[in-house]
Amino acid sequence: MTYALITGASKGIGYAIAEQLAKRKINVLLVARTAELLREAANGISKQYGVQADYLAVDLTATGAAQQIVDWCHEKQYAVSILVNNAGYGLSGAFEGYSLADHHNMMQLNMHVPVELSYLLLPQLKKQPQSYIMNIASGAAYQSVPGLTVYAASKAFMLSFSRGLSYELKQTSVSVTAVSPGATETDFPNRAKVDSPKAKKMAERFNMQPGEVARMAVDGMFAKKTEVVTGFVNKLAVFFAWLLPKSILEKSAASIYDL
Ligand SMILES: NC(=O)c1ccc[n+]([C@@H]2O[C@H](COP(=O)([O-])OP(=O)(O)OC[C@H]3O[C@@H](n4cnc5c(N)ncnc54)[C@H](OP(=O)(O)O)[C@@H]3O)[C@@H](O)[C@H]2O)c1
Repeated sequence: MTYALITGASKGIGYAIAEQLAKRKINVLLVARTAELLREAANGISKQYGVQADYLAVDLTATGAAQQIVDWCHEKQYAVSILVNNAGYGLSGAFEGYSLADHHNMMQLNMHVPVELSYLLLPQLKKQPQSYIMNIASGAAYQSVPGLTVYAASKAFMLSFSRGLSYELKQTSVSVTAVSPGATETDFPNRAKVDSPKAKKMAERFNMQPGEVARMAVDGMFAKKTEVVTGFVNKLAVFFAWLLPKSILEKSAASIYDL
């Protein structure tokens, strides 16, 4: 019996991915900080979809968190065949408006933890006849975003990391997919402290639902796609990010975040 391990699965896109996997009769292991939400999510999923669901409440930015998760899987004899590196957040506004500790914490969650979990779980993933790593990047991975500068850079890292790892693992049983959602209706803007009216208005106009994003992400992962950009509007945005001069793109992004 194998499991999908999903970080940031207590709510938002991570929870929706867990549901999509459970719908396909895959057992799920949910990781996030809030035990109560995780318990509810695990109970709900196992009841509704008839799969095994367990959870571990852990702050992934704590020292040794990735190893703690791997040890927990080992103790419980959970063989992981799907790793979803989803937990992440942004910090909007001026770079200097946050402490260095704030930036470090976000970079730890958005970049270091996915690398650590991929590294630590890879030997186990390689033992499965077919296994998957899904890394949640963002539309912001495709261009610099003044006003979300470190966040966008962390997601560009995730995209590049995923592509490189995907190539390196081509001859193995492990498939790697980077998923880039655009604006999605979750708690993301609150945690990112997005208060610009223009950003809020744009999100209202283009927001996708987490369930829709998760379905595209899981379909793309099983189709062994290297990159998935969710939805037509986001695909168009990625195309323009490739086409247009960077100065124009950056000016337009900065105006969204009132910079
Ligand atoms: N929503 C969007 O518009 C959007 C667009 C592009 C990309 N994304 C990406 O999608 C991913 C999921 O975000 P979301 O929109 O679903 O946001 P969300 O609703 O805020 O969910 C974030 C998840 O991560 C968990 N989490 C946060 N900090 C954590 C920590 N230190 N340790 C363990 N778990 C932690 C949260 O649970 P707890 O609070 O219980 O820990 C929650 O389960 C992120 O990587 C984000 O960058 C989102």
